Amino acid sequence: MADIATVGVIGAGQMGNGIAHVAALSGLSVVLVDVSAEALPKALATMGKNMDRQVAKGGLTAEAKDAALGRIRTGTEMALLADCDIVIEAATEREAVKLSIFKAVCAVLKPEAILASNTSSIPITRLAAATDRPERFIGMHFMNPVPVMKLVEIIRGIATSDATFEAVAALAEKLGKTTAVAQDYPAFIVNRILVPMINEAVQSLQEGVGDVRSIDAALKLGANHPMGPLELGDFIGLDTCLAIMRVLHEGMGDSKYRPSPLLVKYVEAGWLGRKTGKGFYDYSQTPPKPTR
Ligand code: CAA
Repeated sequence: MADIATVGVIGAGQMGNGIAHVAALSGLSVVLVDVSAEALPKALATMGKNMDRQVAKGGLTAEAKDAALGRIRTGTEMALLADCDIVIEAATEREAVKLSIFKAVCAVLKPEAILASNTSSIPITRLAAATDRPERFIGMHFMNPVPVMKLVEIIRGIATSDATFEAVAALAEKLGKTTAVAQDYPAFIVNRILVPMINEAVQSLQEGVGDVRSIDAALKLGANHPMGPLELGDFIGLDTCLAIMRVLHEGMGDSKYRPSPLLVKYVEAGWLGRKTGKGFYDYSQTPPKPTR
């Protein structure tokens, strides 16, 4: 398989713009596609701002930043992805949305191109089976914030070829990431372990074992986690955490993965965390104020 020179990214949200950011900084040509034309200039502005942090810290020159941003083409048409060696889908975590994207993108992709999904929990084998290229389909799960987090979890579907796996592992390395290889079981490695911890923190809050501040302080100061579990749940998005718990509960058929009723309640309230301004903390106040 030829080296990857042009990377397509579908979805200009938090994850998509982070993936485009690191790919462009690694010298690759990037094509960023989103259905929403308004999302594209916003994503470029976010990347510029995040690269500025790197410039301010001395890890990047202003010229390298401008060159990286100059390597990113954006648009709303899938046809722009025709010359990509790999396309990484980072759209909404809804299977129906992803499947309709794959249908549209496979129609324009070159036959040898690899298709990767940044899904955090949908089975890779099932997604791959809905495409024209299960052997060139793979899971490439980036962590948020992508420019900072060192890991890419690589998930092989049962049909994924060795050549696809090797090309994607080499790409992750080129992006400056370390890989962890996961088998295609519910929520893979990171989220199988991380999200039940967050769910347990919410359950502890529900049972009154501790309040928001105590639970977060306990894990930050008692286990050296950079964020407390409730703060991290807000950062990931409580709807995403709930969706992952449901995948684990259904996929494993084990009651130990049942979502905390309080987590369900926050999602029903639309208190999804940082992205809606309120979750276990209210972000309209500085510093953010616990909501329980
Ligand atoms: N782009 C570029 N740089 C960024 C950035 C971004 N989006 N966000 C933060 N940074 C940089 C900062 O400039 C700073 O750089 P230096 O180390 O060079 O000084 C560094 O990251 C730390 O940032 P801050 O000082 O602003 O803030 P912090 O020290 O509180 O760290 C954090 C912020 C990196 C987010 C840290 O709190 C952390 O690691 N939190 C845990 C994150 C985590 O667990 N992510 C995984 C979530 S799970 C997931 O993503 C998978 C899933 O499917 C749900």
